[in-house]
Amino acid sequence: MPRTTKGLILAGGSGTRLHPMTAAFSKQLQPIYDKPMIYYPLSTLMMAGIRDVLIISTPQDTPVFERLLGDGSRYGIEISYAVQNAPRGIAEAFVIGESFIGSDQVSLILGDNVFYGKMDFYREAIAANEGATIFGYPVQDPERYGVVEVDATGAVRSIEEKPTKPRSNLAIPGLYVYDADVCTIAKGLAPSARGEIEITGVHQAYLNAGRLSLRQLGRGIAWLDTGTPESMLEASTFIHAIEKRQGLKIGCLEEVALTQGFLSRDAYAASIAQLPPSAYRTYCERLID
Ligand code: DAU
Repeated sequence: MPRTTKGLILAGGSGTRLHPMTAAFSKQLQPIYDKPMIYYPLSTLMMAGIRDVLIISTPQDTPVFERLLGDGSRYGIEISYAVQNAPRGIAEAFVIGESFIGSDQVSLILGDNVFYGKMDFYREAIAANEGATIFGYPVQDPERYGVVEVDATGAVRSIEEKPTKPRSNLAIPGLYVYDADVCTIAKGLAPSARGEIEITGVHQAYLNAGRLSLRQLGRGIAWLDTGTPESMLEASTFIHAIEKRQGLKIGCLEEVALTQGFLSRDAYAASIAQLPPSAYRTYCERLID
């Protein structure tokens, strides 16, 4: 019996680094080419078979996400919402989400993380996870991310958040899988010097207990950065180039719902009948023509 895995999307934060784009509404609502940013991480969760999702955002933005995505029924999933009153750290997601997670396994994705490629690595990690699983992705600028160092056997030796002298070129993407112990671990963390309960603290606790696994991602996966105006433009250009070449969309939630079998053909037809006339709707209609 496959175990239930719930999904958390953390889509709050102060967004000050992208001012003035984020002065009126949050980063994860900004477009990446032809869709709001959050479509991409939500589609990533859905492609792993996750159908029960909690979106956590700021007091101002949570109602906007709700207006955008509703209760999820149009995608054959269940979306609920929770507020993070202040950006007190990524690990606070497990404190806020504790009753949602219950005794299930959970996967957290940061609302500004965009993946493209075959998602087998993620499905396999969810199926095999004991304790916690993180991923490692080679980048040229590891000092901007959480960084993982591995030993000769591929096991995790150390993890550090934005080290000035990175011990490897393996960044840790904002996509993680945990057993239900994550809530207790997060509740036990003290705030760091910058006043946040850090995701690295969670991973350090699993590492200390010998329960942290790493899966390294290769060239077949694109993990796109959206941390600066330039990287947002580059991510948009990337999505545009692939969509234009293939005539297929990336991160189309209705399409993922159909291909995952979350919506029957009839339910899909009813769902897209609600879309306003647009290139997006035409694309969705073409899929069942
Ligand atoms: O993108 C991957 C990186 O994400 C990881 O490699 C790092 O280990 C991880 O700390 C994180 O680094 P960032 O510099 O991107 O963290 P940031 O504080 O910008 O937060 C990431 C996202 O989570 C951002 O979109 C805002 C949201 N957030 C953040 C905090 C601290 C919240 O919604 N609430 C929060 O309290």
